[in-house]
Amino acid sequence: MSDTKKLYIKTYGCQMNVYDSERMAEVLSGAGYEQSETPENADMILLNTCHIREKAAEKIYSELGRFKGLKASNPALKIGVAGCVAQAEGEEIMRRQPMVDIVVGPQSYHRLAELEARAGGGRKALDTDFPEEDKFERMARRPKMRRGPSAFLTVQEGCDKFCAFCVVPYTRGVEVSRPVEPILAEARDLVERGVKEITLLGQNVNAYHGHDGGGVSGLAGLITQLAGVDGLERIRYTTSHPNDMTDDLIALHGDCEKLMPYLHLPVQSGSDRILKAMNRKHTADAYLKLIDRIRAARPDILISGDFIVGFPGESDADFAQTMSLVEAVGYGQAYSFKYSPRPGTPAAERDQVPEDAKADRLQKLQELLKSQQVAAQERMVGRTVRVLFERAGRLEGQFVGKSEHLQAVHVSDPNLSIGDVRTVRIVESAPNSLAGQLPEQERVPNLPGE
Ligand code: SAH
Ligand code: SF4
Ligand code: F3S
Repeated sequence: MSDTKKLYIKTYGCQMNVYDSERMAEVLSGAGYEQSETPENADMILLNTCHIREKAAEKIYSELGRFKGLKASNPALKIGVAGCVAQAEGEEIMRRQPMVDIVVGPQSYHRLAELEARAGGGRKALDTDFPEEDKFERMARRPKMRRGPSAFLTVQEGCDKFCAFCVVPYTRGVEVSRPVEPILAEARDLVERGVKEITLLGQNVNAYHGHDGGGVSGLAGLITQLAGVDGLERIRYTTSHPNDMTDDLIALHGDCEKLMPYLHLPVQSGSDRILKAMNRKHTADAYLKLIDRIRAARPDILISGDFIVGFPGESDADFAQTMSLVEAVGYGQAYSFKYSPRPGTPAAERDQVPEDAKADRLQKLQELLKSQQVAAQERMVGRTVRVLFERAGRLEGQFVGKSEHLQAVHVSDPNLSIGDVRTVRIVESAPNSLAGQLPEQERVPNLPGE
């Protein structure tokens, strides 16, 4: 019998949490844990949580409730809460859900194995410090597991922007950039494990400014160096703030072949009055001009965004300006949310927009965004695109990958493998995916059914 223990991790929230969950699994593998797909029979359950909207945070407590039976039948089971709810609520989580043994904030993941050892048998372990040491270096990747062709790599964390609605500056702390060298080393290591596409992550990734030899590199400089890594074929980055889109980064979208033609650039609102109240520090017009410059550098770039409706003080006229901005930009993809008051943020204290107005605006905005997304998908039909295949599809012989514009593409062809980058002709579009075929000459003759 082996003494490997089973770890079940469930991840909520943004891509940075996905990256962090991988790192935590690696840290805990050093303590004898192997990841498991289900919570049943687990020795440790870890929820990596998100605090961005009230619903996201409340979900954690109902999820914890579901583990009561497991804890009752196995009192040695350790239950941990990580991520932004852990950072924001700390000890309160253990008060509300006494079965929680470990609470660990995003800056303390490198200490997770110690916390795990300390907790259990009624003892609790909590760490929500913002320590001085470099957690990234202390939880360096363990050698040498193969992995999927697309990976996240966190290069920057935290935020100093303090948008009036947002918890991130409180849960992730001040903006910190990792130095260039360990990022390059991590990228090379990922490529050795089979990775072909890396998405650079940061809450404000384009504010990146990492030590580089004797100097400092911005995101454009970092991407240029990453583009020199042999075997790395695609580079993406998210999420960006409009005010940090520097000229060199914009130009790189036209110059760097490995930099993919997709940009997530949230604007939140199209009303200058609301943008000001949100503390976004730019106008709607400045955003539109920025989009023009980015499209001048890379005409086919697909623009994605985030929107909040019903921010305190938003009138029908303000909302109409958001709709006009969306019309003017033409998004390929976007996320939109009803404003959710977050404890401790300035906007939570202001007069709130009634729920029915929020719901009505969200529906109108989502209809418009959806129609733009459908149109962007339909425009691809008949075109030839490059696809990186990431996983098997649901149908027999089917593979699913991403186009350069980050659109999901399904192809059924026995001639494909995961990790391939292939030319595909798009034959059909749906709102969230495209269907394609390998060009005639690349297909095996006499396919079944032909
Ligand atoms: N750093 C990114 C955003 C991170 S949060 C940026 O600056 O754009 C992801 C998205 O969640 C935000 O873009 C915003 O649209 C939404 N969001 C953040 N706080 C919110 C709140 N209190 N209510 C509703 N949506 C919110
Ligand atoms: Fe939040 Fe993004 Fe604003 Fe920072 S820039 S406060 S992460 S919305
Ligand atoms: Fe959520 Fe924290 Fe990410 S609040 S969106 S998990 S940074």
